[in-house]
Amino acid sequence: MNNKNQKLEQTESIALIIFGVTGDLTKRKLIPAIYQLISEKLISNPIDIIGFARRPWDNQKMTDTLTEGIKEYARVKPVDNKNISPLFNGAKYIHSSFEKKEGFQKLNDLIEKIGYKKILFYLATPPTAYKTIIENLSACKQYSVNKSWVRIVVEKPFGIDLESALDLEESLHNCFEEHQIYRIDHYLGKETVQNILVFRFANGIFEPLWNKHYVDHVQITVAETVGVGERAGYFDKSGVIRDMFANHMLQLLTLTSMEPPYAFNAFSVRDEKMKVLRSLRHLSSEDILRNTVRGQYAGKTQGNLKIKGYLKEERVRNNSTTETYMAAKIFIDNWRWANVPFYLRSGKLLPKRATEIAIQFKQVPLSFFNWKNMAGDAPNVLVLRLQPDEGINLLFGAKKPGPANEISPVTMDFYYQEAFGSNPPDAYERLLLDCIQGDQTLFTRNDEVLEQWKYVSGIIKAWEEKQTLKLPQYHAGTWGPDEAREFIEKDGRVWREPS
Ligand code: BG6
Repeated sequence: MNNKNQKLEQTESIALIIFGVTGDLTKRKLIPAIYQLISEKLISNPIDIIGFARRPWDNQKMTDTLTEGIKEYARVKPVDNKNISPLFNGAKYIHSSFEKKEGFQKLNDLIEKIGYKKILFYLATPPTAYKTIIENLSACKQYSVNKSWVRIVVEKPFGIDLESALDLEESLHNCFEEHQIYRIDHYLGKETVQNILVFRFANGIFEPLWNKHYVDHVQITVAETVGVGERAGYFDKSGVIRDMFANHMLQLLTLTSMEPPYAFNAFSVRDEKMKVLRSLRHLSSEDILRNTVRGQYAGKTQGNLKIKGYLKEERVRNNSTTETYMAAKIFIDNWRWANVPFYLRSGKLLPKRATEIAIQFKQVPLSFFNWKNMAGDAPNVLVLRLQPDEGINLLFGAKKPGPANEISPVTMDFYYQEAFGSNPPDAYERLLLDCIQGDQTLFTRNDEVLEQWKYVSGIIKAWEEKQTLKLPQYHAGTWGPDEAREFIEKDGRVWREPS
């Protein structure tokens, strides 16, 4: 996937400028990922970390905190100190608010003084700060024009609706060109998510069946056992639709349903994903309400364990109608998928952490056995288990030994851990490496982001028009509200219980 032409000269330092360096993401994910890449000699350029944030830290405090982060969160332990110290040789901390021009001037001066030719900006701040930072980088015209190697990484969410996404895109494009912008949806960096395309397009077995002629329906589940916790303030303004559905879930949908690209590169893979997004069926408000379900978790007491309901979480408005669960039935109006329902669901405080894509095949045209309905009773299902317990299962019916033709559901299983050992690279390792190597395949392109918002805005609008409708509740530790079960059952189907 790498664009060999853009490979770095191996010795030049990269200035990694992290806005929001004091936050959790930097400590838990970014710096441990960089450390891992250096330890595995996947990047040989020295990296100079330049932190920029509002807290009154200094170089030493930043170095100490990030070193602790590496020790705690590095994927391979024990950590090797000799790979940690070089990371902080050129480390600098700029203490400034994101509004202050002086902070950006200091940054500019530093870049000029050292004469960095390779600059990687990373927005690891709350998304509300993105626009201000980008605008203050407007001196960055100078970076993009004069320097050969300037990139910016933007964390999701890219806006909160179509309008704000357009606005953010405009600011980004005032400063940077699309080939310099790396929008992170960390799901795309997960090994198992990358394997969706490998599984589909490196094997000849399943692709011929991967269409409306053989597939009854598809279920995409992203279930989490955690509640909103400390992120309640942010979450209450987002809900599952903005937090998970508008990005991770639609990305999983595109990878599952896209056509084979003409080559495995950033242009063609993202072109094919775009075609899926453009083919999503936009529904009327009434149909959206029929084809989606929302829910909010209620609290629960179990013995001594007390789980707070969503409305009792700190920083959640006490009359909030933000959903912590949603399910949707989606249609892709193209020849491959015409009228095949894709059921997507995601929620917080569900019984199990499980992300999976289940392709359920149609039943046989005529059954000879005492097995009424292969699609209903024990369907043929191919399950891509994305996390945890990563792997793939194929469920089918087999004859139970004995004189009767009794059929029993069985599975063929593949486990990543058995095949490749545990401890695969973290999504951030892969994404940071790709960014440094100039490969945008696993990053979301601007047209994808905007198309995702176009689709999702219709749903949000339909929901907002019916604000007065009661938001269904579900108890923590259950698979969402009853309405979610009824919603799929009225189509004669059932939600799979993730394995
Ligand atoms: C983030 C969402 O993008 O993804 C979180 O903002 C969610 O709400 C998280 O918990 C899930 O990521 P993962 O990798 O744990 O599945």
